[in-house]
Amino acid sequence: MTRHATIIGTGSYLPERVMTNADLETLVDTSDEWIFSRSGISERRIVAEGETTSDLAARAARAAMECAGVSGDEIDLLLLGTTSPDYIMPSTACMTQAKLGLTCPAVDLMAACTSFIYALQAGAAAIESGRANTVLVIGAEALTRLVDFTDRTTCVLFGDGAGAVVLGVSEEPGVESVVLGADGSGAEQLIIPAGGAANPATVEAVESHDTYVKMNGAEVFKFAVRVIPRATSEALEQAGHTLDDLTWLVPHQANKRIIQTIEERLGIDDDRVYCNVSLNGNTSSASIPLALDDLYTSGRLAPGDLLALVGFGAGLTWGAAVVRWTMSAPIEEA
Ligand code: ACO
Repeated sequence: MTRHATIIGTGSYLPERVMTNADLETLVDTSDEWIFSRSGISERRIVAEGETTSDLAARAARAAMECAGVSGDEIDLLLLGTTSPDYIMPSTACMTQAKLGLTCPAVDLMAACTSFIYALQAGAAAIESGRANTVLVIGAEALTRLVDFTDRTTCVLFGDGAGAVVLGVSEEPGVESVVLGADGSGAEQLIIPAGGAANPATVEAVESHDTYVKMNGAEVFKFAVRVIPRATSEALEQAGHTLDDLTWLVPHQANKRIIQTIEERLGIDDDRVYCNVSLNGNTSSASIPLALDDLYTSGRLAPGDLLALVGFGAGLTWGAAVVRWTMSAPIEEA
C-alpha cells in the first residue's frame, strides 16, 4: 500500500476576551469605519493576562485529538507553527507537549503566517515516508503580545487563537500536494526588528518599540495578491485538479480586500472562499487551522470535498496545500 497522510481530527481555541474596533478607537487615532473598510475586520480575540501561545495550542490540540479519537501515546510527532513563541528558547512545541502530557518529539516551525502550511508539509512527509503514523500539527498565536498598541497601522489587524489537526495514515491521498515558497529578500517588509540575536532587547530597543511588529502594509498586500493565486494554481496542477474541482479555497485570513483580490485574479466565486476575518482578525499561523475546524464543526465539509489551504506572510513566505477531505460529518450532540 502507498502511504498517504490525511486529516483525521480538527480542533481550535479562541481566547475569551473580545476586542472590538470601538475598543481600539479608545487606544489609537482610528475608527471602526477605517478598519472595516480597509481590512474587513470588526473584532478580534485577545489573550488574557498570563495566557500564552502554548496554552492556546494545548487547548486546540486536545480538541483535535478528541475529535480524531487518538490518545497521547499514539502521537508520534508534534509540529507547531507560530510567530509569537512563548520564549525564543525553549520551543513553544515543547511547552505545549508538556501541557498535553505527551512524550513525542516536538518542534516549532516559524514561517510567520505560512507556518501551518510548512508544518502540514513536514507532518505529511513524515507519515508518507513511514517515520510517523500520527502527527499533531498546530498553528497557535498570542501575536497581540508582540503588536504595538500605540501603532494604528498594525494594532488594528491582529488577533490571537489556535487551531490544530491530527494527521493519520490513509490508503487514499488526503494531503494531495503542497507548494511552498520563500523570498528572504523581502525580510524587511514584515519584521520584529529587535529581541532576537541580531538586535537583543536592550533598553533602547524596547523604548523605540523595535520589539514589536513593523509592517510595510502596501508591499505585503501586493506580494500576497501576486503569490497566492499562483501558488493555488500550482498546487492544484500538481495534484491533477483545476479550480472547478475545488469545494473550498481557504486563504490565510489577513484582510478581506486581499481575499477579494485573490478571488478576482483566480476567477472563483465568493461562496467557495472561506472568510471569517471579520470576527478573528489576522491570527497568523492559526488562521487556516481555525478555518478548517470552523468549516468542519459547522457541517460544511463532507468526505470527498477538495480544499486548497493557502498562506502567506513574513519571510516573505507562502504555501498552498491541496487536501481531499476524508472525515465524515461530526456527530451531533444529543
Ligand atoms: N486608522 C486610521 N487611519 C489609518 C490607520 C488606522 N488604523 N492606519 C493607517 N492609517 C492612515 C495612514 O496613516 C494613511 O494616512 P495618510 O494618507 O495621511 O498617510 C492612510 O490611513 C492610508 O494608509 P495606507 O497604509 O495607504 O492604507 P491601505 O489602504 O494600504 O491599508 C493596510 C493599510 C490595511 C495595512 C493594507 O496595506 C494591508 O492590508 N496590507 C496587508 C497587511 C497584511 O495582510 N499583513 C499581514 C501579513 S501576514 C503575517 O505574516 C503577519
